[in-house]
Amino acid sequence: MAGRIPQHFIDDLLARADIVEVIDSYVPLRKAGKNYQARCPFHEEKTPSFTVSQDKQFYHCFGCGANGTVIGFLMEHNGLSFVEAVEDLAGRYGLELPREAGYQPEAKQHLELYELLEQAARFYRSKLQHQQGEADAYLQGRGLSQAIMEDYEIGYAPPGWQHLLNALGKTAVSRTGMVAAGLIKARDTQAGAAAGHPSVQATAGDTNGYYDRFRNRIMFPIRDPRGRVIGFGGRALDPEDNAKYLNSPETPLFHKGRELYGLFQARRQKKKPDSLYVVEGYMDVVALAQHGISNVVATLGTAVTEHHLRKLFRVVNRIIFCFDGDNAGKTAAQRSLEITIPLLQEGRQVFFKFMPQGEDPDSFVRQHGAERFCADENTVPLSDFLLDTVRTGNGAATREARGNFLDNMMPFLKKMPDSGLRQLLLQEVANVAQTTTEELRRQLLERPADAPRRARAPRPRRQQGSREQISVLIQYILHRPELAMQVEDPTELSGVSMPGVDFLQELVSLVHSNPEITCAGLLERYRPSRFAARLNELASSPDLPTVEEFDMEREFIDRMEKLKAVKSRQAREELAGSKPSALSEQDKQRLRQHYSKPNNGKK
Ligand code: UTP
Ligand code: MN
Repeated sequence: MAGRIPQHFIDDLLARADIVEVIDSYVPLRKAGKNYQARCPFHEEKTPSFTVSQDKQFYHCFGCGANGTVIGFLMEHNGLSFVEAVEDLAGRYGLELPREAGYQPEAKQHLELYELLEQAARFYRSKLQHQQGEADAYLQGRGLSQAIMEDYEIGYAPPGWQHLLNALGKTAVSRTGMVAAGLIKARDTQAGAAAGHPSVQATAGDTNGYYDRFRNRIMFPIRDPRGRVIGFGGRALDPEDNAKYLNSPETPLFHKGRELYGLFQARRQKKKPDSLYVVEGYMDVVALAQHGISNVVATLGTAVTEHHLRKLFRVVNRIIFCFDGDNAGKTAAQRSLEITIPLLQEGRQVFFKFMPQGEDPDSFVRQHGAERFCADENTVPLSDFLLDTVRTGNGAATREARGNFLDNMMPFLKKMPDSGLRQLLLQEVANVAQTTTEELRRQLLERPADAPRRARAPRPRRQQGSREQISVLIQYILHRPELAMQVEDPTELSGVSMPGVDFLQELVSLVHSNPEITCAGLLERYRPSRFAARLNELASSPDLPTVEEFDMEREFIDRMEKLKAVKSRQAREELAGSKPSALSEQDKQRLRQHYSKPNNGKK
């Protein structure tokens, strides 16, 4: 998905959207004074500490500290990326997403495909419910209760070629949609096959040109994090079938290498699980859910990808990969290790769990139960697995073996983001290889793998207390952006040498050019910047006292005046402190200007 969402669109969207309305659709809100309240969806609590401010268009939980704008809420609550959250919000308010260069907004056609997929899921589900026979018996034989089948909406595609086609493909338009959604296929005629493409034209007038993709299979609908059906996995009921599992093909909505089966259901159980298990099969997910372990997702017949991991790390900081106890499982584990290492930022933890030989999580949990499955046995932290993988037979006995170990290890360490874990690994590697961590660090810097690290410029010394000064002004603007209009000319602030003043000036200018902007609008501007966290913190401080006790406007103006006073003082000091000869012509001119006008400051 290339192309940026233009800023003006985000502004318009935020102006139209109402955070109270959106959050209320997930978490019923109750009015409490000026704000709205609920029990926090992000942590468990008895009494409500989750507050939504309509003025600020901002939510904040005093219990767990969660906070943000409506876009942030959709990201957190539904596990969406920024772009997905913006798309979702735009959809709710009927806005079409424009993009800067190179982006295709979600087409109308996509909406039709979602609808067809949803109907197909209902069709398969009803077949399982109403034709209780082989399929139902099979699932019961695998230990699944009706409740779990309901939770995961497990269905059944009957044998035969045209059941779904006849049910949903009554018009040429719907048949075209069903092909695009991967639900039916166009028949190959001799001619079509010879030419290397299916000949659709020959029979496009009726359903005879098509047939159901999924036949005689148990059907697992795959929902994206927003809960929309995007594809299916189907397990053959006939053991003679040559594909035990059949997945939807790649479609405009379904990309195997990105989606995870069970993520939507896991988050429906618990928005913020502590950890997520990553397993290999559909059946593993539902069998574990059957045993009360619902924080489980499966890749869709592919190895784990970076996309998968980014999705997962948006939801949890702790991932436990589970691998079947066979050689394929070991190979998959190695690959997952390589993909994971570059994403191991501070705070993230990854574990590897190996099932005993010949078992998978499904068979294991059915045989040994949930407690044994969750126990630490057969689970190793990523760092142990890494060291085991890299350490060769006779370890550190010879210089050659140690050299080998180092050579194998360094590429991994180079890809690992700097963190406490990397520091500890460096120490351990240094011990084993009989070298020093300094030497290893030097090597890491020598040939940086991904992002070259640049030395930071030393920070300028801060003036005591001034940082806080400015924070208060910024905080007022976040709470009541219109206050910034009290500053007649934002450039008045330029030239005050005080940390944060440039930022303050920027904020004031931003309000000047967008007088209607809300707190949320300001926060969204700075989402991608290093200021984001601090701004959110300032915005989430409880509402300031009411006007009777506290006049924010008066206070804001006073503080601004003080700031401007600092500027003239600084200018005077500068003049007094430097010998005239030390001033360049330019400086002199600047100072003359400063003293000739009360409101100087043209840049
Ligand atoms: P497994 O062969 O391990 O299946 O494939 P399983 O989960 O144990 O299935 P049961 O217990 O026999 O029902 C694991 C995953 O690999 C993909 C599927 O996503 C499956 O869930 N797969 C497997 C395919 O895509 N096609 C296949 O033919 C087999
Ligand atoms: Mn299995």
